[in-house]
Amino acid sequence: MSARAIVLAAGKGMRMKSERPKVLHEICGRPMLWWALEALRRAGVAEITVVTSPDLEAAFWRNPALADFDAQTVVQSEQAGTGDAVRVALAAMPPGDGAVVVTYGDMPLIDDALLRDVVAALAKRPGRLLALVTAHMPMPSTFGRIVRDGKRVARIVEARDCTPDELELDEMNAGVYAYDERALRDAVARIGNGNAQGEYYLTDTIALLAARGRVVPVVARDYRIVLGVNDRVELADARARLNARLCEQHMRDGVTIVDPATTYVETGVRIGADTSVHPGTSIGRNSVIGTGCTIGPYARIEAATIGDDVRIVESVVVDSTVGAGTTIGPFAHLRGGSRLGERVRIGNYVETKNAELADDAKANHLAYIGDASVGARSNIGAGTITANFDGVRKNRTAIGADVKIGTNTSLVAPVTVGDGAVTGAGTVVIRDVAAGERVVGNPARPIAEKPTPA
Ligand code: UD1
Ligand code: CA
Repeated sequence: MSARAIVLAAGKGMRMKSERPKVLHEICGRPMLWWALEALRRAGVAEITVVTSPDLEAAFWRNPALADFDAQTVVQSEQAGTGDAVRVALAAMPPGDGAVVVTYGDMPLIDDALLRDVVAALAKRPGRLLALVTAHMPMPSTFGRIVRDGKRVARIVEARDCTPDELELDEMNAGVYAYDERALRDAVARIGNGNAQGEYYLTDTIALLAARGRVVPVVARDYRIVLGVNDRVELADARARLNARLCEQHMRDGVTIVDPATTYVETGVRIGADTSVHPGTSIGRNSVIGTGCTIGPYARIEAATIGDDVRIVESVVVDSTVGAGTTIGPFAHLRGGSRLGERVRIGNYVETKNAELADDAKANHLAYIGDASVGARSNIGAGTITANFDGVRKNRTAIGADVKIGTNTSLVAPVTVGDGAVTGAGTVVIRDVAAGERVVGNPARPIAEKPTPA
């Protein structure tokens, strides 16, 4: 598709009652504006001009997901209306004579098929000046009304400016247009601001172009894909609809989602076939989950890479890697830089951070393993703590393979425990323990020694 596009995103978004520009509010892991730009990218529109406000401009380029589009931005210094915004965009675009798509940055549900349809409608016959998407909607609605003269689209009137009769019209302006560029440049130069809001309305170009030729309506099959987000109620509604779409894609790809309504999946997540996701679970930040896993109920998974046949129940896994066959939870917390091997077992009330647990290691109950490595097949007893912080810096604990750490052991880092070593219940390890050594007490002593009476 050879069209160029203008995306309007400078509006104040007053109804959000937010310090943050409206189009930066997140939906399923991306800013609202990302969804509008992604639909254009999928439709094959290569050249996009985004109209930003002074508040949005810097934030747009700081956001990696938005910066990635390679769009051009242009700042509309005062939010004088959608017509003014298009004028500002056109002034920053070298003139052309093809199609220009205009859409709004607050329509995250829009899809690429509709964008292709509206461009195709404009191109269908030479001499067409404008094609626009309309939709029949449940009433009442705050959308601009399409006023027809017989079958022809004559003009658009904003809900605020409607007469009571016009308010009854149930065909709405979706806010998706394909213009002949020269006709658009000409029309936006002519519109005024004599309306309820004192703004320059892009929608006033419709009457101007209808007077010169036919304005082609493209009636959306489903009004729900052109719903806009103007306040936080509509934000929640859009999120639910996008989430349902994402869940549906995963289910069609072979993932069981027991209850899509209480499963929160961000875009960019990958889940293998025959994995089951149970209620109350959220999966985000580009996490990758293998096949045959059981995730949830009540799991939160962010920026994680999870192997095949993993079980994660009522637990949090963030910025971590989990090997195949591992079991986590209930009530475990894997955070920043946890790297678990295969068939590891992490049980109730276990927290890991910046820690490696090799294959078949176990920490079944109540432990903190931070800045540590645990070798293969080692067992961490209940109540074990790696005391990694000495008040100044974080220190490492290195535990070898086949080690048995007894209940309530404190490992005061930096400290190393050799392969096959054993600590007794309540041991406080402050010096390195040699391979095969058995220690007990506070401070830890080899078990062969007679404890000195206190
Ligand atoms: C607009 C349409 C309305 C349509 C509805 C569909 C106009 C005048 N009205 O109404 O017919 O039914 O969308 O959702 O176009 N913006 C700017 N600069 C401005 C003003 C707005 O960039 O000066 C941007 C906003 O960020 C937003 C978009 O334009 O993304 C639409 O503005 P908004 O105020 O939300 O218009 P609506 O009242 O929803
Ligand atoms: Ca809107």
